[in-house]
Amino acid sequence: MAQQVQAVIAPGKDEPVRVETIVIPDPGPGEAVVKVQACGVCHTDLHYKQGGINDEFPFLLGHEAAGVVESVGEGVTDVAPGDFVILNWRAVCGQCRACLRGRPWYCFDTHNAKQKMTLLDGTELSPALGIGAFAEKTLVASGQCTKVDPEVAPEVAGLLGCGVMAGIGAAINTGQVGRGDSVAVIGCGGVGDAAIAGARLAGAAKIIAVDIDDRKLETAKKMGATHTVNSRTSDPVEAIRALTDGNGADVVIEAVGRPETYEQAFYARDLAGTVVLVGVPTPDMKLELPLLDVFGRGGSLTSSWYGDCLPSRDFPMLVDLHQQGRLDLTAFVTETIGLRDIEQAFARMHDGDVLRSVVVF
Ligand code: APR
Ligand code: ZN
Ligand code: ZN
Repeated sequence: MAQQVQAVIAPGKDEPVRVETIVIPDPGPGEAVVKVQACGVCHTDLHYKQGGINDEFPFLLGHEAAGVVESVGEGVTDVAPGDFVILNWRAVCGQCRACLRGRPWYCFDTHNAKQKMTLLDGTELSPALGIGAFAEKTLVASGQCTKVDPEVAPEVAGLLGCGVMAGIGAAINTGQVGRGDSVAVIGCGGVGDAAIAGARLAGAAKIIAVDIDDRKLETAKKMGATHTVNSRTSDPVEAIRALTDGNGADVVIEAVGRPETYEQAFYARDLAGTVVLVGVPTPDMKLELPLLDVFGRGGSLTSSWYGDCLPSRDFPMLVDLHQQGRLDLTAFVTETIGLRDIEQAFARMHDGDVLRSVVVF
């Protein structure tokens, strides 16, 4: 039987979000209904609300979530009611060229839930990033659910579903940070800090944190940064070179999404180093570089898509490392809040006061 739950809707471009009653259908073939226990507030939710992603309003926001499977539809064998799961954006097909080449994060044919969640009047909702978890319950494809150790706190587990995975994955999967490497991370918000934690996990010898805000640099030290650079007061490229015997860093991770920081990342790497771009630019931004500088540098310049993660491999592994005390995911949770507090959480995010506000149910 379809059921009614409370959820946070973005009704229209730039309108404040509001709590509404929504209707969740019974899971159809390949689908699951998940009782959400925690969901982090991410920048992408704000972008959806502002109409920056598309105009398929009304949106059901929230996509960094963990919870318990309540019921499953026909043919679902990968998860069962009672399983504690972290949600991911897309159920991959396993059969397209990208999937067969072992890069399912580029899957061309993802299968999210086919049925729609609706408002009481039948208006269909667009779930943000295919999830929509600022809701007591949500409908997803079973392939979006990854089982993990149920002992982990839900507000910590949920973060692996987006920002923290994007950052850690940028370091360990995309950047392939190795033992003894020097790593520079430009932009130390939640994503950059996660990249720092990932670099520490991978055994980097030097981790240089760059930000324009001293408060962020203090937090970055707690995540594992060995050196900090305030790029308002000193040139970050010069500073990174000076800290790496004049060479530049083996891996530079850009986690801001602006032309000037993309350019800094480009020049702060060792000639054979890797630049990993995680910060998302806006459509109007451009980068102009002398071609000779592009040609004259080896190494690689790459972007990281969802931390190039394999949820079934990476989510349980990172939960395990957290449980063992080797990766402190709790440090990313600045505050836990209720469904009605999301507008304030957006404001605090804008002011740079939080790494993550997490809605708990
Ligand atoms: N140079 C260095 N750091 C900067 C600059 C700059 N010019 N401008 C902003 N920053 C810092 C901010 O001070 C902040 O600490 O970048 C950090 C950005 O952090 P958040 O706003 O918390 O964003 P976060 O959630 O970490 O995401 C960063 O990654 O996935 C993408 O869409 C996301 O583009 C965003 C980026
Ligand atoms: Zn595929
Ligand atoms: Zn997100």
